Amino acid sequence: MIAKSMKKFTANSSAVRKMFEEGARLAKEFGAENVYNFSIGNPNVPVPNSFNDAILDIIENEDPVKIHSYMSNAGHEDVRKAVADHINKEHDTAFTEANIIMTVGAAGGLNVAFKTILDPEDEVIAFAPYFVEYGAYVGNYNGVLKMVPPDLENFQINFAEFEKVITEKTRAVIINSPHNPTGVVYSEETIKKIAALLEAKQKEYGSEIFIIADEPYRELVYGGITVPYITKYYKNTLVAYSWSKSLSLPGERIGYLVIPSEINDFAEMLDAAMVANRVLGFVNAPSLLQKAVAKCLDESSDIAFYEKNGKTLYDNLTEYGYECVKPQGAFYLWVKSPIADEKKFCDMAREHRILIVPGSSFACPGYVRISYCVAYETVVNSLPGFKKLMDEI
Ligand SMILES: Cc1ncc(COP(=O)(O)O)c(C=O)c1O
Repeated sequence: MIAKSMKKFTANSSAVRKMFEEGARLAKEFGAENVYNFSIGNPNVPVPNSFNDAILDIIENEDPVKIHSYMSNAGHEDVRKAVADHINKEHDTAFTEANIIMTVGAAGGLNVAFKTILDPEDEVIAFAPYFVEYGAYVGNYNGVLKMVPPDLENFQINFAEFEKVITEKTRAVIINSPHNPTGVVYSEETIKKIAALLEAKQKEYGSEIFIIADEPYRELVYGGITVPYITKYYKNTLVAYSWSKSLSLPGERIGYLVIPSEINDFAEMLDAAMVANRVLGFVNAPSLLQKAVAKCLDESSDIAFYEKNGKTLYDNLTEYGYECVKPQGAFYLWVKSPIADEKKFCDMAREHRILIVPGSSFACPGYVRISYCVAYETVVNSLPGFKKLMDEI
């Protein structure tokens, strides 16, 4: 018999994943070209050639035993140094290899971060709508996820509600920008406001509140918008990054955690995070992939491709009468369901072989997420279905 604590997971297994599987089934029945599967954030821009070249180069030129060996739980030192230098160049920071732990994707980094800082009953705040796995990750360490309701006007942070949710038990706040599922980016002004509020609350409660910056979409931004680097505004910040989206490598599981030297109890924090990486069973991030991404730090996937998909969907759907949040980043379009029950709307969309995810999967009913990391033809060919749906309603 499985653990009681797992029963709720198997009973409510991810709607996103279910939808993805439904897409595969429909594709078999109707042909892949007749199914518009906007369910999952699986990048469809091919990995840059330089990544494949890097893998071949490493296999041919590195020591064939060493490259596949165990290493420090933090990862290869030369890779961590290259990553630190890259962040410094991009964001005018002053990290060294000592500030970087290579992780198994952002998901691995977030779990290492929570394992490092959470005691049972500690509270972690997330802004709805949010990536649904946060609840599971925080629960893994017996923390409690607290939700800040959204600002339905623009899906930026609702500060009045945010302040109400912070208590003496608050241990961390998750900031995800560019944001899944809304595509919004938080401005420098917003980050400064968050930092000021958390500084004040740390003083008021005599506590430590960490920002966990979840940044797998950092480079995926449109129209020259900038994404502030949060460690520059708030010292108790941990950054979880991955190449899942920026290099289209989600199945490879490679990312890193930044632990700034200014963070409270830096040395202890670093040791604890390395131990967390080990005892969670990751041990270290995949060796070959660490070396390969280090050779591609200046690369990014084709952002213009996603921008075109997002713009095409946004322009056409708004013309048909849908209310959409204009994407600033990531590859998601967040749309108000034209009927109150967004799950029913998703079922109606499925009749047109359009697969989209209900907002209740992100703790925000009444909305749906369209994941547009798909072929441009899929976007264009889905448009008549979206129009018919609106006409039916
Ligand atoms: C907001 C957010 N955080 C974290 C992750 C996990 O990313 P990774 O593949 O790097 O583990 C995802 C993946 O979709 C995500 O959307």
